[in-house]
Amino acid sequence: MKTQKTHIALMLFLLTIVSWQTTWAWQQKSLFETGRRLINIAASNNTEEILNLIDPKIDIDTKASILESFIQVKEGLFNTIGKNNLELFNVVKQNKFTYFILTYNNKFLFIRSKTNDKNLIVGNFALIDSKITQQLELGRKIYKMKCYSCHGKYGKGMIGPNLADFHWKYVKSDEDLINIIKNGKKGTVMIPYKSYLKPEEIEAVTMYIKVLQGKELPNAKKPEGDEIKVPFVIFKN
Ligand code: HEC
Repeated sequence: MKTQKTHIALMLFLLTIVSWQTTWAWQQKSLFETGRRLINIAASNNTEEILNLIDPKIDIDTKASILESFIQVKEGLFNTIGKNNLELFNVVKQNKFTYFILTYNNKFLFIRSKTNDKNLIVGNFALIDSKITQQLELGRKIYKMKCYSCHGKYGKGMIGPNLADFHWKYVKSDEDLINIIKNGKKGTVMIPYKSYLKPEEIEAVTMYIKVLQGKELPNAKKPEGDEIKVPFVIFKN
């Protein structure tokens, strides 16, 4: 009797999972989930599964074109790097585009597309080859050496404030961000880094902090200061 009940409970549980999966396309949790699915599909052999991430309401020609662009991106990806070590670093929306920022072996790359308010894909994919990728690689190194000790892993905040949460005590623009890194904040342990870093290193670490915005970070320090809704300029289209 007891085991029968457990069986039924288990079946109900499995059914819930199956129905959840089939309606998945309509109930996405976040853009991050879309991003993670995207790279899983890119790394698998089931390319056509990308159709589950596309808004079902768009016309068949557009869907076909998105699928084709995805196949091209996939080929581009795996001609240059291995299949297994891709990770989603963050997702950034800018100028009507959505950029999926991926990392592999401490390097970066971007897949650009368009997403709707349900976080479903509505535009073609493109692999973006940008000089920002090299800047970010340098930025990550500088961050680890000079900033990590106070601002924590991926800017989640420690002695210094959280740098990844769209909230700022002193920053309202791109200029403010680079200026506080250059000049520091008098009377605090945030020293002026222009004495210790080259201009291109300051630019690189500034860019790295820009792409941290909105990154999912467990146990992050709570936000301080004002929320800045407008994203920083990262990609110039
Ligand atoms: C010794 C600790 C320490 C180090 C190292 C450090 N910071 Fe800071 N940083 C702070 C503190 C503390 C504040 C907040 C100052 C205040 O509240 O007045 C701050 C503030 C900031 C701010 C402004 C945040 C805001 O909310 O407006 C930015 C941006 C920043 N730091 C970036 C960096 C970068 C980039 C590096 C590495 C190049 C770095 N910091 C290294 C301690 C540090």
